[in-house]
This record gives sequence, C-alpha cells and structure tokens, in this order.
Amino acid sequence: MRIQTYDQYQAAYQKSVEDPEAFWAEIAQEFQWRKPWTKTLQWNFEEPSIKWFVGGKLNITENCLDRHLATRGDQPALIWEPNDPAETGVTLTYRMLHEQVCRMANVLKRNGVVKGDRVCIYMPMVPELAIAVLACARIGAIHSVVFGGFSAQSIADRINDAQCKLIITADGSYRGNKEISLKGTVDDALIGCPTVERVIVMTRTRTPVAMLKGRDVWMEQELKHVTSDCPAVEMDAEDMLFILYTSGSTGKPKGVVHTCGGYMVYTAYTFQNVFQYEAPVGERAPVHFCTADIGWITGHSYIVYGPLACGATTLLFEGVPTWPDAGRMWDVVDKHQVNVLYTAPTAIRSLMGFGLDPVKDKDLSSLKVLGSVGEPINEEAWHWYDDNIGKNRCPIVDTWWQTETGGILISPLAGITHTKPSYATLPLPGVQPILVDENGKEIEGNGVSGNLCIKFPWPGIIRTTYGDHERCRQTYFATYPGLYFTGDGCLRDEDGYYRITGRVDDVLNVSGHRIGTAEVENAINMHTGVVESAVVGYPHDIKGQGIYAYVIADQFPDDHDADLTKRDILATVSRVIGPIAKPDKIQFVSGLPKTRSGKIMRRILRKIAEGDTGNLGDTSTLLDPAVVDEIKAGAL
Ligand code: WTA
Repeated sequence: MRIQTYDQYQAAYQKSVEDPEAFWAEIAQEFQWRKPWTKTLQWNFEEPSIKWFVGGKLNITENCLDRHLATRGDQPALIWEPNDPAETGVTLTYRMLHEQVCRMANVLKRNGVVKGDRVCIYMPMVPELAIAVLACARIGAIHSVVFGGFSAQSIADRINDAQCKLIITADGSYRGNKEISLKGTVDDALIGCPTVERVIVMTRTRTPVAMLKGRDVWMEQELKHVTSDCPAVEMDAEDMLFILYTSGSTGKPKGVVHTCGGYMVYTAYTFQNVFQYEAPVGERAPVHFCTADIGWITGHSYIVYGPLACGATTLLFEGVPTWPDAGRMWDVVDKHQVNVLYTAPTAIRSLMGFGLDPVKDKDLSSLKVLGSVGEPINEEAWHWYDDNIGKNRCPIVDTWWQTETGGILISPLAGITHTKPSYATLPLPGVQPILVDENGKEIEGNGVSGNLCIKFPWPGIIRTTYGDHERCRQTYFATYPGLYFTGDGCLRDEDGYYRITGRVDDVLNVSGHRIGTAEVENAINMHTGVVESAVVGYPHDIKGQGIYAYVIADQFPDDHDADLTKRDILATVSRVIGPIAKPDKIQFVSGLPKTRSGKIMRRILRKIAEGDTGNLGDTSTLLDPAVVDEIKAGAL
C-alpha cells in the first residue's frame, strides 16, 4: 500500500486512472472484512449515487483496534498531552484503547443507543473524545461531533437536523488560561432539542453543573456498570459512519455524510502515503501529531481514523500553541519526540510573530515530516516552517482537501514528490482533478487557472448531506453536470502542479475554519438594531482571511453608540454561531451597493474591504452609485 518512489507514484497514479476498481480493490484487501464486497464501485454523479465496496461488511473499529492487538497490543495508540504542561498526560496502548472503547460502547448501549442512532459529541480534546467517537462506530451509531467552540444555538441546529438521541459532553474544558463551560452550553441547547433522551457528562474541570434526573448521567458512574466485552456490530460498507456539519455559501451548515468502508480505506491509504508513515511491528512507532481539533474533519481523518487504521501512534493535544508561552508546540514535539507534525498555516503565522526565541532551545530533531492543511500557505510561512522547524531537512506536505472529500486529494508524498512553496503539487492516486471555466468547459493544458472539479469518485467522497440529498446534488454536482465541484479556484502551472487560490463562492476561511458569509449575515441580522448586513472576507496577516461586515442599523449610531453597538453585534454573533464567527471589522453604512434587481454587489464590497478602492469596476448598474462613495469614505 505504501508508495516509496516517484516512479511508483506515477505507476500507481496511472493504474488508478486506467482501472480504478482494480486499484482500490487491491488496497482494500489489506483490511479486515467480515464479508467481501461483490462490486468495487457503482456510481453516477447525476443523482449522485456513489457506492464503494458494494455488499462488503466490516466494522471500522475492528480495523483500527482489534486487528492490531496481536502485533501491537502494547504499542502506544494514543498519547494525550493536556492543556496544562504541569498536568500528567495519558498514554493508551492499543490494548488499553480497545478496552476503553468497548466499555464506552457498552455505556452507550446501556443508555439505549442502537445501530443507526445519531449521537452528538461536544467534548474537549481529551482521550474520551476519541474513545466516544470509536465507541459509536463500534456499535454502528452515527456520530456527529460538534466543535467545542460552537454556541448552544449551533449545537441545537445540528442535533435537530440529525435527530440525535443522545449527547456526550463534559462539564467544561480548558483552553490556555481559560475555562470554558460545555455542559451549561449543552443545557441551553437542549431546551430546543426534543429528540435527546440522554446526556452523558464526563468530568474534566469539575465545575458545578446542572444534572437533570432521568436525562443526565455521569460518564464515570456509567463506566462502573459495564464490562470491556463488546463485540463490534457488523456494518455494510455503505452504512453511515458519521455526519460532520460544514458551512456552505447558503443557509445553515449541512451534514456531510461519510460511510464505513470507503472512508476507512481512503483515510488509511492517504495517511500512510502522504506522511510516508511506516511503523514496523516491534519497533517504536513514529509519533504523529496533528494539531487540529477532532471537531473538524482533519481531526476525524488524521488524528483518529487514518492513523489508527494504520497502527500508528497518534498524539492528541488539548491546549493551544501560545500557552503558557509561544514555545508550547515545540515543547510537545520535544517531549514526545514527535516525528510527523501536521498543522495549519494560521498557527505557523501566529507563531512566526513571536520570533525564534520560543524555538531556540527545543529539540526538534525527531521531526521527519511537516504537514500543512486547511488554507493556502503563503510562501513566507512555508519558508519559516521549513527553515526553523524542519531545519531544511523535513519535507513539507501542503495537503489540499475538504470535509466533503473525507481525506487528502492533492498533496506531495513526503520526500517523494518535489515540492514548491504554496503548491499542493499533484493529485494522489485515484484523484482526477480538472479545471473548468465559468461555463463548465474544461481548461486543458498547463499554465492555466479555473474552478477546481474532480471528475471521478474516490472512496472517501461525500455520499449525501444528511436528511437532504437534493441539497448535496445542488451544492456539489449541479454547478457543472458530471463533475464534483469543490468551490475552490486553482491554477495549474507549467509543470502541471496545482496551487489552490481560495474559495470562489461565498465561503470564508478564517484561521482555517470554514464560515459561510450568509451564516454570519443571518447572525448579525438577529441583532435588534440591525436592518441589513453584508459580509465579505479580506486578507488578514495571521488568520488568512478576516471577516468584514457592512451593517445598516435602524438608527445610524454616533461614535459612542457605534462602539457599543459593535460590541453588541459581536456578542450576538457569538451567541448565534460561536466566537469563531465574530467579525474583525464592522462598518456602519446607510445603504449597500445593490443592482436594480436587488442583488448586493459583493465584488465592490470585497474590493473596499481589501483596501483596493482605486478601481471598483463598473458601478453603473447600481441602483444608487452614491452609496459606494460613502462606503469608501468610511472604510476601516
Ligand atoms: C481550504 C479542511 C489551500 C479550501 C481539510 C477548501 C486549502 C477548504 C487547503 C476546506 C490547502 C484546505 N491549500 N486551501 N492545503 N486545505 N483548504 O472542509 O478552500 O474545513 O475548500 O476541510 O479549505 O475546508 P474544510
């Protein structure tokens, strides 16, 4: 399964295009199936209907845990580094992790969860989070992890969309010097969630929390009543494994659905090849440190499933890169002798700002591979990472992918693919990217740019959006018939290398987090004093993109009120979505540039937010061109 040379990459790529079924069948055979599949792939992008390993039966946790017990039972599977460096961490071997997953699965069963039920998970970055995820998978419950920074309203929306029966949470969480309430937020959410019958509460901060009789139970108590014997439930390859909500350009976040067989094969294959992860039995397994939160797809695929499916040692970090000081990440690398570090450009840029002092005395010699994910990495950050962290001896893999793709699609293979700063380079085997123009016409050749689409399915591709298949079709498969549309713009240089240039739709990427402009506008508009708003992104040195909001208030505020109103708006957005969606800049305006048909001309607002007011293009179609001058004059 592991490609070791560039020639092998080319051969694998060619085979994957010429005979995708044979290519993936060979890889899938390396896993443990209860029953083999009868057809490797059935698909069309019209409905869409995509099925991999049709008729195959398996349980992903047997592949991530049981399968390794005989050979790697005593090898660390999961290393946990707590928020506070003074607190003792945890190392779970494969045997221990297996046992804990089985026990947690029995707790779920005891609380009425059966195959097919949806379980919401709202937890800090602690081992119990990974355990809860795997416990769901063990019994065929569908997990829906909600990032611990989302608001009660966001949790409620997600729970109701998926009709979750149970939620697993903790009293609170630690992030840097902050203590954050989780259970309290869940309580607020559950006021509007009639389907939730049970809340399992883990103790982390031991803050006082409300515990409702008949609904809320302590995880620690529940665990006392169960054994560690929990046979895995047999799942169809196409049974749902999880739902993960992500933002798009319109409406509420949608529940991206991944299924058991294809997702397992794809995350394991990409994990092993992109990071060139090799763990010979009996030797110390390299430590893989992905800094994402399990609340995002990167955590699902490259902290939990991909690494464990490959028998790796995965490191889970509860804290933040800048606490107690800006050397924390390097301390973690040093302490655990991390071999693969996979992080986001935002983190690199923010640490760059602290200079080299925090890196100076850290032993980073264990590092072999560096990864980047979530947003385009600028050249400056790439070189800083290369020079100061990798010391010019660790290949950097700039991995491009999405929640919907399940795993990495375009990326170098560490040490195999020649890299270029800011390029995701070449498609992985099985991935067939094409660039199209506005009309969906393929743009061939090199030295071109266009909208990035994929023309053939890979095993990790989205299957549906939960409860609304039509939305899945509309969003991803209808813009360019016959193609999966990524929403990203992309250029292909003279060497055929791909460079992702950013979203071409109304989705922002703020510190690597996906946020829809429409979502933020809806949240701002919920403030009583707001008549209308328009949100765009602008370049931000650390976050990649910042959020710029133009707001029409019912009374144009004077300076003093403006400041207060802005803070009220921020509080409103935090309450509706969560702090990650708070605008960086709010400009009060008396009107928005609209066409005669009432459409907001975002192009103009984007230019003004970028500080590029010289050439705003044609404004003659605007209903009221004068409003543009006012907005320009008041730009922040
Ligand atoms: C962006 C995160 C440039 C892109 C795995 C994509 C990137 C969105 C890269 C998906 C990269 C992700 N270079 N842009 N290496 N990786 N993106 O769903 O715009 O949270 O569409 O998945 O992030 O974000 P998501």
